[in-house]
Amino acid sequence: MKNLLVTGGCGFIGSNFIRYLLEETSFSGRIINVDNLTYAGNVSSLDDIQRNYSDRYCFEKADVCDPAAINEIFKRQGIDSVCHFAAESHVDRSITSPEIFINTNVKGTFTLLEAARNQAGFLLFHHVSTDEVYGSLGKTGFFTETTPYAPSSPYSASKAASDHLVRAYFHTYGLEMTLSNCSNNYGPFQFPEKLIPLMILNALNGKPLPIYGDGTNVRDWLYVRDHCKAIWMIMEHGRRGETYNIGGECELENRHIVERICDMVDQSGRAVHSHASSRELIRYVKDRPGHDFRYAIDCSKLKDELGWKPEESFDTGIEKSVAWYLDNLAWVANIESGEYLEWIETHYKGQEK
Ligand code: NAD
Ligand code: TYD
Repeated sequence: MKNLLVTGGCGFIGSNFIRYLLEETSFSGRIINVDNLTYAGNVSSLDDIQRNYSDRYCFEKADVCDPAAINEIFKRQGIDSVCHFAAESHVDRSITSPEIFINTNVKGTFTLLEAARNQAGFLLFHHVSTDEVYGSLGKTGFFTETTPYAPSSPYSASKAASDHLVRAYFHTYGLEMTLSNCSNNYGPFQFPEKLIPLMILNALNGKPLPIYGDGTNVRDWLYVRDHCKAIWMIMEHGRRGETYNIGGECELENRHIVERICDMVDQSGRAVHSHASSRELIRYVKDRPGHDFRYAIDCSKLKDELGWKPEESFDTGIEKSVAWYLDNLAWVANIESGEYLEWIETHYKGQEK
């Protein structure tokens, strides 16, 4: 892989992946980051990379749904591999505005697949997907790579459609691909609409901490660098045409995560509110429609075949994450300066139970 196209590299996981690849692996090729900078994308997340790796990293502002722009970049940059992150990624937004999810996640993936299959010497298309395609679990059981797809939200349905397209290109056209379905990520550079960064920043600023339903929903949490490491292992050593589940083996109820974050913010001494405890800011609000109860991943295929294992526990990962947000409030102010604040005000209006 000499000229690797990373889509969505200005988002949360994409920016962490680019940093991981350049700083921590033996990858010696070039990275071409294609991102159209939606509300969730921020070029400043990679300022240091642009400075330190200008010979091996470049940014191209383009929409993955635009075939002319994508085909032109494939030819001009000699793209021989793709790691596809670009997506609309927030379940709540997919409930209020589903159309853009179909466009970006389905048509965008299709556009990239077409460009890849028409590119001479193309080596690998890695598709980054989610465990949410499998739907919801009850109190027991795990998702494996053979669990039938049963998505509940427009977000997960659009990711499911994109997964099927990627596999269809392998079976129909012989396009070399790998695919990963990962559980919930957290860590630096995550947009503060997702549970963990939203709660860190709201606790810090004395804003309400909205927990959907009764807060007993369970997610399987993975520190973002461990996800990046798994993706690169799969790209380098995974069997072509295969799917790998990635998970943290770290199931936690939402309410316990929020309480933990409150205590960590309080202990940091940085909270700018007058409550005795940030826990006083917790509000149980109306549940998310179609809210999946539990996600839990069986990632033994990835462990047994490729020897992957997560390096961070939730204890170490959440400590790093809280510290990162407290130390990077300028990044937060920058990313929140777009249309995000407007959306969040409308979203939470009237949500109290
Ligand atoms: P994110 O929302 O933080 O970033 C998405 C990036 O894609 C942004 O930089 C955005 O500008 C870009 N983008 C959106 N539409 C685009 C378009 N039309 N053209 C070009 N760029 C576009 O998302 P994330 O959390 O980093 O997720 C990345 C990928 O990982 C997604 O495919 C998501 O489904 C998947 N995933 C996420 C998680 C998670 O917990 N965040 C877990 C498993 C899988
Ligand atoms: P989120 O970070 O949106 O990820 P996903 O929906 O993809 O799992 O939400 C994680 C969990 O936290 C999910 O069960 C919904 C819940 N949640 C809240 O209770 N309050 C919130 O404000 C948010 C954003 C999420």
